[in-house]
Amino acid sequence: MTQPLIAVAGAASKQGRSVVDSLLADGGFRVRALTRSPQSELAQSWVKRGAEVVSADDLAAAFHGANGVFLMTPPTPPNNSQEYATGCLMADAAVAAGVRHIVFSTLENVDERTKGMKFAPHFTDKARIADYIRRLPVQSSFVMIAFFFTNLMEYYLPRWENDKLLIPIYLPEDFRAPFADPLSITGPAVLDIFKRPQDYDGVTVPLVGDWISPREMVETFTRLTGIPAEYRNAYTREGLLHYFPEFAANELLVQELLGMVQYAVEYGYFSPANRPEHITPDALNWEAFLRRTGWKGEKAEF
Ligand SMILES: NC(=O)c1ccc[n+]([C@@H]2O[C@H](COP(=O)([O-])OP(=O)(O)OC[C@H]3O[C@@H](n4cnc5c(N)ncnc54)[C@H](OP(=O)(O)O)[C@@H]3O)[C@@H](O)[C@H]2O)c1
Repeated sequence: MTQPLIAVAGAASKQGRSVVDSLLADGGFRVRALTRSPQSELAQSWVKRGAEVVSADDLAAAFHGANGVFLMTPPTPPNNSQEYATGCLMADAAVAAGVRHIVFSTLENVDERTKGMKFAPHFTDKARIADYIRRLPVQSSFVMIAFFFTNLMEYYLPRWENDKLLIPIYLPEDFRAPFADPLSITGPAVLDIFKRPQDYDGVTVPLVGDWISPREMVETFTRLTGIPAEYRNAYTREGLLHYFPEFAANELLVQELLGMVQYAVEYGYFSPANRPEHITPDALNWEAFLRRTGWKGEKAEF
């Protein structure tokens, strides 16, 4: 019997790569990876491992014949975000192609939860896409990933000052928030969904590798690396713009970053319905993530 075909949108993203890797490693599925750069080294490495690589520009062709699709929406700045439209377009194309099961990477509806008090459209748009998908004639399941550990290495970089590493973090020093490594947590969860679809009909799976405060993150970093480090507050507007003055060029982005973290602190990253009782099995915590990456405070790309 032919193995089911899973198309992975955003296959080159951190989440997408994780899904492609897990599906290929499992061996129970055929994999079709969508990317805007099918000739890239990464894409060609998937071909060598048996995946099909297609252009993300033609969704009808990309989803043709697929039994399931994994959908994620790429990061988009708030003043020009097409996220909701993009997500709906991908879902519509999947249904039109006859796909049986959509797995979408979603987040909470901040607008609804805070009655419009906090501005985080990249959360709310994903929740609206999930609502849209639920109304389509297709089986659907969702993953909801915690804050990425990688944010501190890609977007909110530490800086050296007098032989000390200052680590600006977008949360209050003693506030424990959910974090995860998107590269290792997404794939196994999505693989399990595609393997046992009947158990995940309409289900949202929260993914968390650690529930940790900035103070604990910095202490763990110093303990592992021997590098003296201190937390710096990037939770307030003043702190954020002091450490990342470049964000000031986009006021709406500043409002969104502040809205997102205030939301997480005041309302909880996960709604009561989605808040997980446990850490995701086998997920990396902060310490394991630091050990795996060997990160010492430099800018990194994932
Ligand atoms: N950072 C967090 O804490 C966090 C937590 C939960 C959820 N999220 C969500 O996760 C998503 C980002 O996932 P990720 O970090 O895995 O993605 P990523 O690593 O930044 O990769 C984004 C990928 O999207 C593809 N893409 C397609 N159209 C694009 C466009 N117009 N602009 C940029 N990239 C485009 C690109 O692949 P090709 O070039 O191959 O097409 C790119 O590799 C965002 O929607 C974010 O809101 C983030």
